[in-house]
Amino acid sequence: MFSIALLMALQTVPADAAPAPHAMPGEEPVAAYAPSNANAGARAFAGDGMAKAFGGQAGIRRIVDTFVNRNFADPVIGEIFANHDQVRLRRTIFEQFCFILNAGCDYSGRDMRNAHKDMGVQQADMNRIVENLQFAMAAEGVSFAAQNRFLSKLAPMRGQVVER
Ligand code: HEM
Repeated sequence: MFSIALLMALQTVPADAAPAPHAMPGEEPVAAYAPSNANAGARAFAGDGMAKAFGGQAGIRRIVDTFVNRNFADPVIGEIFANHDQVRLRRTIFEQFCFILNAGCDYSGRDMRNAHKDMGVQQADMNRIVENLQFAMAAEGVSFAAQNRFLSKLAPMRGQVVER
């Protein structure tokens, strides 16, 4: 039974097909790029203070879930997210936040300019996404001081995300 299922699965994949570059199972393929923590758009905090303030990887995971859910359901910016790969976004945003907060992750996603290219993101969209992130951080009990330190790491990415 198992071998029949395996044969059927193999038949749908040409023998020379390479795995989708830089996409995990369940994600849509993306064009090849060179993964690097430099793509995260900010340097990581030193020490473990910020990681603790965000509740470690478990806290960051909850914040990212709330944040991504709100962005997709958002009446203002939801349409920008519609039809984008939510599975990949949940993974790459988690990695990015976890890396910057120095909570023990590497970032394997694309750089901020390429990730947001031709999306037409405006400053108002950026403001809205920050509000959604503030909601998610507050829901996790992150102090305002730590929230603002984190937001100050994201603010300089505006130039790579927003189109003028
Ligand atoms: C500092 C602010 C932002 C950060 C740190 C950020 C971070 C990211 C990351 C890590 C990715 C995934 C990259 C990858 O797939 O390799 C991504 C993709 C994406 N971002 Fe952002 N983002 C920001 C602002 C925004 C804004 C303002 C919008 C729109 C309102 C937006 C919409 C999207 C969408 C739709 C994708 C999916 C792209 C795709 O499917 O190809 N982002 N972002």
